Amino acid sequence: MKLITLTVLPLWAWILSLILQGTLGQSSLKTFSPDLQFDNYTLILKGQRIFLHSGEFHTFRLPVPSLWPDILDKFKAAGFNAISVYVHMGLVNPSPGVMDFDGYRSLSALYEAARLAGLWIVLRPGQYINGETTAGGLPHWVTSQVKSELRTTAADWNAAWTPYIQAIIGQTNQSQISNGGPVIAIQIDNEYDQEEGGPYFAEIEALYRDPSSGIEVPLTHNDPGMLDAFINGTGAVDLYGMDAYPQGLVASNLSIWNPIEMGYHTYHEEANPSQPWYSPEFQSGAFDGWGPDATGYEDWRAVTDADFVSVFYLHTWASNAKLVNYYMLYGGTSWGALPYPYVYTSYDYGAAITEARTLTRKYTELKLQGIFLRSSPEFYKTDWIGTSSSNLTEGAIIPSSPPTSPAFVSLLRNLDTGAGFWIVRQNDSTSLALSSFKLNVTTAGNQKLTIPIVASSINLDRTV
Ligand SMILES: *[C@@H]1O[C@H](CO)[C@@H](O)[C@H](O)[C@H]1NC(C)=O
Ligand SMILES: *[C@@H]1O[C@H](CO)[C@@H](O)[C@H](O)[C@H]1NC(C)=O
Ligand SMILES: *[C@@H]1O[C@H](CO)[C@@H](O)[C@H](O)[C@H]1NC(C)=O
Ligand SMILES: *[C@@H]1O[C@H](CO)[C@@H](O)[C@H](O)[C@H]1NC(C)=O
Ligand SMILES: *[C@@H]1O[C@H](CO)[C@@H](O)[C@H](O)[C@H]1NC(C)=O
Ligand SMILES: *[C@@H]1O[C@H](CO)[C@@H](O)[C@H](O)[C@H]1NC(C)=O
Ligand SMILES: *[C@@H]1O[C@H](CO)[C@@H](O)[C@H](O)[C@H]1NC(C)=O
Repeated sequence: MKLITLTVLPLWAWILSLILQGTLGQSSLKTFSPDLQFDNYTLILKGQRIFLHSGEFHTFRLPVPSLWPDILDKFKAAGFNAISVYVHMGLVNPSPGVMDFDGYRSLSALYEAARLAGLWIVLRPGQYINGETTAGGLPHWVTSQVKSELRTTAADWNAAWTPYIQAIIGQTNQSQISNGGPVIAIQIDNEYDQEEGGPYFAEIEALYRDPSSGIEVPLTHNDPGMLDAFINGTGAVDLYGMDAYPQGLVASNLSIWNPIEMGYHTYHEEANPSQPWYSPEFQSGAFDGWGPDATGYEDWRAVTDADFVSVFYLHTWASNAKLVNYYMLYGGTSWGALPYPYVYTSYDYGAAITEARTLTRKYTELKLQGIFLRSSPEFYKTDWIGTSSSNLTEGAIIPSSPPTSPAFVSLLRNLDTGAGFWIVRQNDSTSLALSSFKLNVTTAGNQKLTIPIVASSINLDRTV
C-alpha cells in the first residue's frame, strides 16, 4: 500500500519536469498539471511551447452542430491552433433549476469537434458575457427575479449563478487537456472592473478551485483596456489578458485608420512581466448598430481588411504577445431575441469568414501569418530587444534615395538560439504611401547583413 502511494507521478512526468527545469529554468514557471504550464514567454502544453493563435467562435451563433466542423476546419486550415468560445447562460439555464445542454447548446459536441479538428479551447462561460447579447447573456428570470445588484457578492445573485457554473464545471472537467480534452483555460466573467468586481470574482474562482470541481486549467480575465484589472489583489486570475479594438466599435470615419497603440510592450512589462502577454480579444471587425450609426458589415470588413491584419496583428506580435485571439474569426447570426437593442440580427462582424461561411481576402493574410507561426518555433520564445524609437543598433534602417515614407522596426530575439525577428511597418502606421528601404541585421552567427540581398529594397505599400 505504501509503495503505491509513493509513486505519485509516473517516471515520464519526472523526466519531463527535469527537462523543462533544465531548458526553461524560469523562476516564473507555473504548473497547473504536467500537461499545462506557462512561464513569462508562452503557454507550455504537453511540454511544448506554443504561440496560442486563436479565433473567436460562438456556437449559439451557428446553432447547427453538424456545421461546427466546417468552421473549425477553416480555422485549422488557416494555421490557427485554438478557439475562444462564449457560453450563453440564458440559453443553457432558461429557468431556475433547468440546465439544457442538448443540441446546439451542447458543450460535449463542441469539445469533440474541437478535439477532432485539433484545436484548443479557451472557454468563456460568463455568467456575464456581453457579446452584444441582451443582458450580456443573463437569463430573463435572473434580470427580473434577482433583487440585488448583479455581478456583486449579493446572496440572491450568488444563488442564481452557482448552479450554472457548477453545471459548466460538470460538463467541462473531463474535457480538460489532462483528460485528453481540448480545454486549456476558463475565463472569469467579462471585461470587469476590479474595484467593483474583486470579491465577486473571488467567489467564482473559489467554486472552480473547490477540490470537488476537478478544474485545474488556468483561470483568465479580459481587461477592457490597460487598467491592471485582476492581475493581483482580491479576485486576481491566474493569467491576465487585455482586449484591444484599435479602430473602435462605432463607425465614424472608416476611410482612415486610427494609429497603432505604441504602449503595449511597456504596459505588459509594468503590469504582469512574470506572465506571457495575452490578448484575449484583438479586433478583427466590429458589430454594427441600427439606424444612423449603421455602416454595414462590408465597410467594417474593408477597414479591417488584409492590410489592417498585416499592420496591426504584426504590431501586436512585435509587442511580444504570445497568446492572441481574434474577435470574431467567424461571427454568424444572433438568432431569436439574443441581440441587445443596439444591434441587428447579423453578427457577421466583418470577419475573415463571412456569416455565410465563405472566405475573404483577410483569411488569406491570416493564413500567411498562421503558416509563419507554425513553421517558426524559434519565434515562440523571444525577448523584446528594442525598436526604432529605442536606439536599436541591430536593425538600422537605410532609407532609399530619394527617401520615401519612413519605416519603423521592432526586434525580437530568441536568446537560446540567437534567431532574430525584425518586424517592419510604416513609421506612421496609418500611411498608405510607399515606404522603401534596406535593413541592417545581425544574424544568430553574428554576421552583419544588409537585406534584401538580391532585390533592391524592402517595399511597404498598400498592394491589396
Ligand atoms: C466534475 O464535476 C462534477 C459536477 O461538479 C462532479 O460531480 C464530478 O465529481 C467532477 N469530476 C471530477 C473528475 O472532478
Ligand atoms: C497590485 O499591486 C500593485 C503594486 O504592488 C499595487 O499598487 C496595487 O494596489 C495592487 N492591486 C490590488 C488590487 O491589490
Ligand atoms: C474621412 O476621412 C477622409 C480622409 O481623411 C476625408 O477626406 C473625409 O472628409 C472624412 N469624412 C468625414 C465624414 O469626416
Ligand atoms: C523572462 O524571465 C527571464 C528570467 O527572469 C528574463 O531573463 C527574460 O528576459 C524574461 N522574458 C520575458 C519575455 O519576459
Ligand atoms: C537614444 O539616443 C539619444 C541620443 O543619444 C538619447 O538622447 C535617448 O535618450 C536615447 N533613447 C533611448 C530610448 O534610449
Ligand atoms: C549598414 O551596414 C553597412 C555595412 O556594414 C554600413 O556601412 C552602414 O553604415 C550601416 N548603415 C546603418 C544605417 O547603420
Ligand atoms: C515616427 O513617428 C513618430 C511618432 O510615432 C514621430 O515622433 C517621429 O518623428 C517619426 N519619425 C520619422 C522619421 O518620421
